[in-house]
Amino acid sequence: PDVTQTATIPPVKHLPDAQTVTDVKHWTDRLFSFRVTRPQSLRFRSGEFVMIGLMGDNGKPLLRAYSIASPAWDEELEFYSIKVPDGPLTSKLQHIGVGDEIILRPKPVGTLVIDALLPGKRVWFLATGTGIAPFASLMREPETYEKFEEVVMMHTCRTVAELEYGKELVESLKDDPLIGELVGDKLKYYPTATREEFHHRGRITDNLMSGKVFEDLGIAPMDAEHDRAMVCGSLAFNKDVMAVLEHYGLREGANSEPREYVVEKAFVGDGI
Ligand code: FAD
Ligand code: A2P
Repeated sequence: PDVTQTATIPPVKHLPDAQTVTDVKHWTDRLFSFRVTRPQSLRFRSGEFVMIGLMGDNGKPLLRAYSIASPAWDEELEFYSIKVPDGPLTSKLQHIGVGDEIILRPKPVGTLVIDALLPGKRVWFLATGTGIAPFASLMREPETYEKFEEVVMMHTCRTVAELEYGKELVESLKDDPLIGELVGDKLKYYPTATREEFHHRGRITDNLMSGKVFEDLGIAPMDAEHDRAMVCGSLAFNKDVMAVLEHYGLREGANSEPREYVVEKAFVGDGI
C-alpha cells in the first residue's frame, strides 16, 4: 500500500474493538471490498450488519453501518464499500491497506435474515449498488439452500463495471469446496445494467412487473404462496420494489413477525 496514504490513518490498536485488514480489492473508482480479522466472540446471522469505522481526527471513533458480506461460517469478515468522495468515513476508509486496523463494534443486527421469512419454495434477493453486500453473505450461507429450492439474485447497477463484484462472487460459488455442491443449480443470477449496453438491461422493478425476468430465466411468475423476498437498495428503490412485491401479494415481515418479504436500506440519503 501507498505509505503516504496509510500513514494518514491513525492506529487504533489501543481500542478493544480493533481488527486487522487482511485483503483489499478495488473494483471501480467508487467501489472496493476488504476483509478483516474476525473477533473470536463475534456471532452473527448471515445478512446482518455491524458498525465499523476509523478513529476520527477528533480522537473519537467515526462509525458507519456496514452489512457483513461474508457468511456466518467464514473465519474472516468481508465488507463491500462505496467510496463517497467527501464522505466523512469512506474518504479515508478507501485508503486502507493490508495490516491497517479498523474499528468493528461486535453487535450484529438487521432484518435481512432467513428467520424473518416464512418458509417458502423460492427466495428473491433484490439489490441495487452496494445493496448486494448482505446477499454476498446469504448466497454463501448453507441455510439459504437448505430452506429454499430456488434462489434468484437480481442485482442492478448503472454500469457493467459496478456488477463485477457480484459476478465474480457468483462464479466462485460453483467451485466453492464448502457450499458449491449445496448451491448446485439452485442459484439463478440476473444482473442488469441500466445505463450501459449489457445482455440484461433495466430496473428490477420493471423486469419484475413486465415478467421479463421470469421469461429470461424460464421460471414461474412470482406468487405469494411460494415466493419470499429480501430487498436492499436506496430508499427510492426499496419503496418501489415493495409496491411490486405487494402487487404480487407478498407482505412485509420482520424478525419478530416473519412474513413473505423483508427490507433494509443499503444507505441513508439520496446516493452519490
Ligand atoms: P456518509 O456521510 O455516511 O454518506 C454521504 C452520502 O453518500 C449519503 O447521504 C448518501 O447520499 C451517499 N452514500 C452513502 N453510502 C452509500 C452507498 N453505500 N451507496 C451509494 N451512496 C451512498 N455502505 C456500504 O458501502 N456498504 C455496506 O455494506 C453498507 N451497509 C449499510 C447498512 C445499513 C443498515 C446502513 C444504514 C448503511 C449502510 N451503508 C453501507 C452506508 C454506510 O453506513 C455509509 O453511509 C457509507 O459508508 C458512507 O460513509 P461516509 O461517512 O463516507 O459518508
Ligand atoms: P436507473 O439508472 O434507471 O436510475 P442509483 O445509483 O441512483 O442508486 O441507482 C442504482 C441502480 O438502481 C440504477 O441501475 C438505477 O436505475 C436503479 N434504481 C434507482 N432508483 C430506482 C427505483 N426507484 N426503482 C428501481 N430501480 C432504481
